[in-house]
Amino acid sequence: MKISTILALSVFLLLSSKTAWSKEIVFKNHGRLVKVLTLEQIEKFLPATIVTVSEPHESENRRYKGFPANALFTAVYGEDWNKAEEILFACADGYQPSLPSARFEKYPSYLVYFSPDKREFVLRNKLQNNELVELGPFYLIWDNLKNPELQAEGGSGWPYQVTTIDLISFSDRFPNMAPPEKSSEEVKNGFLFFRTYCMSCHTINGEGGGKSVELNYPVSVTEYINEPWLVRWIDTPTSIRYNTTMPRLNPNAKDRETIIKNIIAYLKAMKNNKREPMTGKD
Ligand code: HEC
Repeated sequence: MKISTILALSVFLLLSSKTAWSKEIVFKNHGRLVKVLTLEQIEKFLPATIVTVSEPHESENRRYKGFPANALFTAVYGEDWNKAEEILFACADGYQPSLPSARFEKYPSYLVYFSPDKREFVLRNKLQNNELVELGPFYLIWDNLKNPELQAEGGSGWPYQVTTIDLISFSDRFPNMAPPEKSSEEVKNGFLFFRTYCMSCHTINGEGGGKSVELNYPVSVTEYINEPWLVRWIDTPTSIRYNTTMPRLNPNAKDRETIIKNIIAYLKAMKNNKREPMTGKD
């Protein structure tokens, strides 16, 4: 075995042993702490099941073991969890998607913590340059096997390394990400697309996910990357940087060109709405 392989393996073992004892999850309601639960505590009140999904990061079927998300939310928050506008998932790697709670009522989802079939709880993320990623402590998956609509969505609503779940009102939680009220339809649509496709990894004025870089403050990306390059970057990042881990905008999305155009219109509008990120807030 090469030294580098041995090193990589020991780092990996170290990481997995660390997550083995930290399988717990924090539940918040509009920023206020509700509960911290360990895997063992959840198992006492909710039976785990095994689900087969079409794994969007690996583009093949895979089995996982975990809890139905809606039943878990009801147990933790009570019946009213679905009155929250969105559910924010904070992950150890900085990924932070915000998903409408209506989506959880429409499609069954699971918070899983284990790979049966003698596989490690990791995956090789094809959408991010084949990066090997740890999935624990918890991974949100969707029962998409018989649902082409969900399958076409790709992996953006499948956060792994989930450590915190928060019921939020989007505008209260991210007041500095919104474009001005009088903005054009194009900009407003671009904001919605940005929320779906970009904010899980990037911040605007310091608000959003911390998996990658800020895009607006102090200088907007639209000020130093011209539009044709920006379009190409969002369309196929690896056509510019061969080893980038930024995924391409979902290739199955309808009207991709419009989506990209609108997102850039939103970014340009935000160029004139810079606000200094608040420290101590993500
Ligand atoms: C899964 C995480 C992820 C998502 C989702 C994502 N990005 Fe990125 N993005 C990255 C990473 C990582 C980089 C860092 C550059 C690199 O790796 O080469 C990056 C870099 C960038 C850059 C270049 C910044 C610079 O100054 O170099 C821009 C612009 C950008 N992203 C825009 C977007 C837009 C717009 C979206 C939504 C359509 C998006 N990103 C979605 C991860 C992501």
